[in-house]
Amino acid sequence: MQNLTDRELIEIINTDKYDAELFKKADAIRRERYGTDVYIRGLIEFTNYCKNNCYYCGIRAGNTNAVRYRLTKDDILSCCEEGYNLGFRTFVLQGGEDPFFTDEKVCNIVYSIREKYPDCAITLSIGEKSKDSYKAYFKAGANRYLLRHETATSEHYSLLHPPIMSLEARKECLYNLKEIGYQVGSGFMVGSPFQTTENLVADLRFLTELSPDMVGIGPYITHKETPFFDKPSGTLQLTLRMLAILRIMFPHALLPATTALGSIHPEGRELGLKAGANVVMPNLSPMENRKKYAIYENKIATGLEAAQNVKELKESFEAIGYKIVTARGDVRR
Ligand code: 5AD
Repeated sequence: MQNLTDRELIEIINTDKYDAELFKKADAIRRERYGTDVYIRGLIEFTNYCKNNCYYCGIRAGNTNAVRYRLTKDDILSCCEEGYNLGFRTFVLQGGEDPFFTDEKVCNIVYSIREKYPDCAITLSIGEKSKDSYKAYFKAGANRYLLRHETATSEHYSLLHPPIMSLEARKECLYNLKEIGYQVGSGFMVGSPFQTTENLVADLRFLTELSPDMVGIGPYITHKETPFFDKPSGTLQLTLRMLAILRIMFPHALLPATTALGSIHPEGRELGLKAGANVVMPNLSPMENRKKYAIYENKIATGLEAAQNVKELKESFEAIGYKIVTARGDVRR
């Protein structure tokens, strides 16, 4: 698939006529590399404060109606403890770009988790930072970093973000993270406002160049307290198609069936697994905060996405032939 021309890729992305073939091939490749294993990551959304103003995101600084919260270090450690007992061996600390969490605070939290859970992977997803900051977190014990590039076309990037943000800065962060030695995850939204098929092809090309360990994609979902309140959400079908294409192009990649996918369709995540995904990230955040971490509307927040219900999730996945495993789930290059 890497060898296809842009025109050929556009043709595949624009039609449903290859879907059955794509999903079949993606599932076969995933089984060859990762078997039927599904890795679980405990997601801890520890702050919804954000200094950025991305036009699509519900926790953007400009949304004065968002109810803000921060977890304390003790809160975070309790989430990890609960997660560990449930079988999680990766903790993902995700948050808005919140200046309250200085490098010192982040390192302190990471170090405490590292000390208590030497057998676990620690993933950070806290946005754009300096190379020195990334180095400090790595030294404190973080292993992985998630930072979606969102769109690999500069013009499109500037339609989704305020002028102070740039694709160039985002890319630089991603290359810095790789250089430091993190397992890096990037990704993009499917069906974000103004997105063209050419933009999606550019995303695939950029990922080929970056060669990340993880690729997170999910449908764009409208949030009414954003400048994009009247823009339609992305679709299930296109997201599944892009997942299958990613699996075929990047056999080694860890591909999550994301919460956004689970939020636009009741079986979104199961369908994601069938299209090549092999990771799910159930929510370990305290129940009362989950609704507040509303990057988009109607985010699922009480059912099978809850880490506490991992047993039910396991059963639902086993029914379609996949197996949730207790493991760090590192990349297999
Ligand atoms: N719909 C879907 N995904 C979104 N994200 C942010 N806002 C939305 C939205 N409205 C995604 C971005 C970000 C990730 C944490 O969530 O891709 O990187």
